[in-house]
Amino acid sequence: MNKVDLQRRSVLRRLGGVAALSALAGSGVWVGGFRSSALAAPASTATAGSFDVGLRLRAHPDEVSILPGAPSDVWRYTAERIVGPEDTLTPVGESYAGPLIRLRRGQRVHVRIDNELPEDTTVHWHGLHVPSDVDGQPRLPIAPATSTTVAFDVVDRAGLYWYHPHPHGPDGGRVGFQSYAGLAGPLIINDAAERALGLPDGERELVLILQDRTFSNGNELQYIGGGGMGAMMTRMRGFRGEQVLVNGHPDARREVSTQPYRLRLLNGSNSRIYKLAWSDGRMVTVIGTDGGLLAKPEQRRSVTLAPAQRIDLWVDFGDTEPGESVQLVSEEYQLGMMGGGDMMDRGMMGQGMMGDRMDGMMDRGMMRDMMGSERLPLVTFAVVARANDAGTLPERLAQDLPASPVQADTPVRRFELSMRMMQGFTINGRQMEGATVADDEMVRLGETEIWEFVNNTMMPHPMHVHGLQFQIHERVGGRTDLHDGIIDAGLHDTVLVFPEERVRIALTFKDFEGFYMYHCHNMEHEDAGMMRYYKVVA
Ligand code: C2O
Ligand code: CU
Ligand code: CU
Repeated sequence: MNKVDLQRRSVLRRLGGVAALSALAGSGVWVGGFRSSALAAPASTATAGSFDVGLRLRAHPDEVSILPGAPSDVWRYTAERIVGPEDTLTPVGESYAGPLIRLRRGQRVHVRIDNELPEDTTVHWHGLHVPSDVDGQPRLPIAPATSTTVAFDVVDRAGLYWYHPHPHGPDGGRVGFQSYAGLAGPLIINDAAERALGLPDGERELVLILQDRTFSNGNELQYIGGGGMGAMMTRMRGFRGEQVLVNGHPDARREVSTQPYRLRLLNGSNSRIYKLAWSDGRMVTVIGTDGGLLAKPEQRRSVTLAPAQRIDLWVDFGDTEPGESVQLVSEEYQLGMMGGGDMMDRGMMGQGMMGDRMDGMMDRGMMRDMMGSERLPLVTFAVVARANDAGTLPERLAQDLPASPVQADTPVRRFELSMRMMQGFTINGRQMEGATVADDEMVRLGETEIWEFVNNTMMPHPMHVHGLQFQIHERVGGRTDLHDGIIDAGLHDTVLVFPEERVRIALTFKDFEGFYMYHCHNMEHEDAGMMRYYKVVA
């Protein structure tokens, strides 16, 4: 496959200028003008004291040791706490991952974002209910060597969210490239209701970011490069790395004691779907999803985690002896409904997706690779100590989950996911066209709708909606190896829609007017234009 280094030379060349400029940008007063009109305080009178949390977040190139041997060039977030509780920022391993930002419901947060990269970027608060102008949308890019400030109130439920870049210019998106280069970090919201449950915390609460990466012999990150058939196929499937890194490290291992743990997983991969399971066959116990805790725990043989999704797991190593270890793995799976190669021959080629010329050039191995995944070890939990205070899993978890907002007359808005020859994936026949919305992409403030995603393609699409958490209402059709591991209970901001499947979600557009986005969170699909704005109007 034709891949390319992480623009090392051009990055370094352009950095000379950027570094000097960013020193200038950094000399201003850190509380700048606000973008958010929803905030009461006028920019001129606001001070750091008006906020419970004040952060400075830098996006910048760096060198980080990932594999043994030479360090790797990355792009990363680093943050500094200006005001706020001491536990607001915690490093995630010693790697490129952005720091864990820990917020409390009810806080007012102010973030100054410095772009020290050689290209435009934004910072999107994935999953958070924030005003349109602080959502990090591509229509508000932060130019190299400039800063912006955003401020918002923390109104979401306790849960694991995350932040990542969202740039998309006239030539396409750079989300895949920039997050692959290392720009992504976790964000946890805590609240009193969750604390009252007494779930494992401190050393027994682990945030685990799953990302797959490919390295050159010199340890440089490699991403899709150039034109060519291989690159084209990779863009269509989405980029997949040769190895999985957890919190930026290969061969992840954690030492644990014979006690319950809370594992908070984020799939920060560009396109890879994981089928999470325990190596000793124990059931996977799920306590939460994208938007926080479930009403009660759910158990599965395996759990499906698509890009951008989070899952909250509870595991008790109390039945394991010191000296033993248990692995969290991603099991092998096939997505082809008719079995790999067959499906490609009859389905994909039959539809003439890439034209006749392609036929002879693709072998079945490549097809199988597109439609499934081999088994991958993720994290080894080595039980090293015995502990007594076991603690049990509450039978009831969240009591603040909203009831279904769906009524007999709730309107249904339909989104057909299709493939346009040589162009890529579309939503209702459209692709990203900047901050423009069609008539059928306007929704009313305060209203509830059902959105129905119909997948007419042979690929799964993790569909994400900005600015809110939704409920998954119904799933029809599409049976795959991954369906048993689907958790539809609770609140979500990203839902996986399988080939030949129709999924209905229920959303309510509250509090904020303006532009938001909806898109496939396979980052290569999104960057190729499988993304649109929608607009909330009063
Ligand atoms: Cu995680 Cu539109 O983003
Ligand atoms: Cu988002
Ligand atoms: Cu997609």
